[in-house]
Amino acid sequence: MTAVTQPTTPFTDQRPGTSGLRKAVRVFETPHYLENFVQSIFDCLDGVAGATLVVGGDGRYHNRTAIRTILKMAAANGVARVVVGRDGILSTPAASCLIRKRRTLGGLILSASHNPGGPDGDFGIKYNAGNGGPAPEALTEAFFRRSRAIDAYRIVEAPDVDLGRVGTTDLAGMAVEVVDPVADYAEMVEGLFDTAAIRALFASGFRMVFDAMHAVTGPYAVEILEHRLGAPAGTVINGVPLEDFGGHHPDPNLAHAHDLVARMEGPDAPDFGAASDGDGDRNMVMGRGVFVSPSDSLAVLAANAAHVPAFAGGLTGVARSMPTSRAVDRVAQALGLACYETPTGWKFFGNLLDAGRIRLCGEESFGTGADHVREKDGLWAVLMWLNVLAARRLSVADIMAEHWRTYGRTYYGRHDYEGIEQAAADALIDDLRGRLPALAGQAAGGRRIAAADEFAYTDPVDGSRSERQGLRIAFEDGARIVYRLSGTGTSGATLRVYLERYEPDPARHGLSVEEALGDLAATAVELAGIVRHTGRTEPDVRT
Ligand code: G1P
Ligand code: ZN
Repeated sequence: MTAVTQPTTPFTDQRPGTSGLRKAVRVFETPHYLENFVQSIFDCLDGVAGATLVVGGDGRYHNRTAIRTILKMAAANGVARVVVGRDGILSTPAASCLIRKRRTLGGLILSASHNPGGPDGDFGIKYNAGNGGPAPEALTEAFFRRSRAIDAYRIVEAPDVDLGRVGTTDLAGMAVEVVDPVADYAEMVEGLFDTAAIRALFASGFRMVFDAMHAVTGPYAVEILEHRLGAPAGTVINGVPLEDFGGHHPDPNLAHAHDLVARMEGPDAPDFGAASDGDGDRNMVMGRGVFVSPSDSLAVLAANAAHVPAFAGGLTGVARSMPTSRAVDRVAQALGLACYETPTGWKFFGNLLDAGRIRLCGEESFGTGADHVREKDGLWAVLMWLNVLAARRLSVADIMAEHWRTYGRTYYGRHDYEGIEQAAADALIDDLRGRLPALAGQAAGGRRIAAADEFAYTDPVDGSRSERQGLRIAFEDGARIVYRLSGTGTSGATLRVYLERYEPDPARHGLSVEEALGDLAATAVELAGIVRHTGRTEPDVRT
């Protein structure tokens, strides 16, 4: 078997600043496309020769093909061992867990998260570092610079390894260790929670539905919830991972998790409902007829963390991404915890977690996590809720009502305008950016603007600076509007508008989100000139 050096040409279409490469499957199928990016990663890492790497993905179309190529390239680049999930499967948090447990150099995760899969869907690849978390920006920038200059990659010519059987085989001198994708993760989470209390909760007749959306968490949820914690068989629905996720968006929100929402609003609704996304890092939680917004979920988990064994030693601090509602800030203040506001994207939590400054963090985009891994973790969030419900023996609705009575309610919504022209999106942001300084003190839609600025972040651990992380408008009554452009889209631009309003009065905690935020949404459209810039009169998605 020989390693060949394959000439190639650089590709230039990836925008810098994103944590990995996410594109249509068709793009990944163009010759040398994946290879260029993988070689660029290997070229930028120190100590690839002789290293151990973790490789796995969410099982979507192209996963196995990509893994076969990556294994042959790893061998040609002198990697000593690759730990790969059986059938190429590893959820994103399980990959993070394995990287940490095995102390590997890092890992390659194949996924396009919650984007649709299949031959006409999306695919993606990203590198996670030795702490188990997404590569820091300096490294991802280096990958992209390299991918623009690269002219060759290395690959061995060898037969494909059987990924279907657990065990170790040789590939051109490199060990390929196929592992059960669930075992290490399941063992880790069992150590974090009061499993006896959760088992007793299920034994008492408590019922839940977990919608795996035909994505990667099915096998994890069946093993942990049904086999280890005693939830009745059938608790996990859509539990078989499919290459095209059954044709749906594996995105756990009210717009896409139809089956779950139908069950939770139906006549025989169970006590608790949850869903996770394509690669298992996102979560949505619901009670009977109640949706828990991710921002509220973070706040509730922070307020109740003392019931969870992993946090018996206290939380030290919490963090949220800037557009996430400030509900958790109120909990942090009441409990005397440090509270950090970071730019959008999980990688910004990494340093804070590594330094022990925070133990719990989350994003409004259905991401919640803690210091057990360095990724957001969908199933972990569900287990946190189960642990809290088992300890409190209250319904989800009662927990929410109690939380709002104690801290006040922060109504929250996000409106997305998808597939708009990049130039129009940029013009909207530039225009508003230019007007920000003049906005403070002005009235808008019956409210007075207290402050308007563009968010920038200095990492308190390593001092690195991230500019232009979203435009925010704060009102005197505590309401807030945030605008930013998505960094994860695969076609056109997506404008995200985040709305929140604080309501201390318990008599007004029963409004619908539409009732509570309608006037603020109109103000947001007006202030940014959304119709003028984009021609859109309605958002595509409201979450
Ligand atoms: C979106 C979410 C963000 C999350 C990211 C990756 O990014 O908004 O919170 O970290 O996906 O899951 P965006 O498309 O907004 O850049
Ligand atoms: Zn995801």
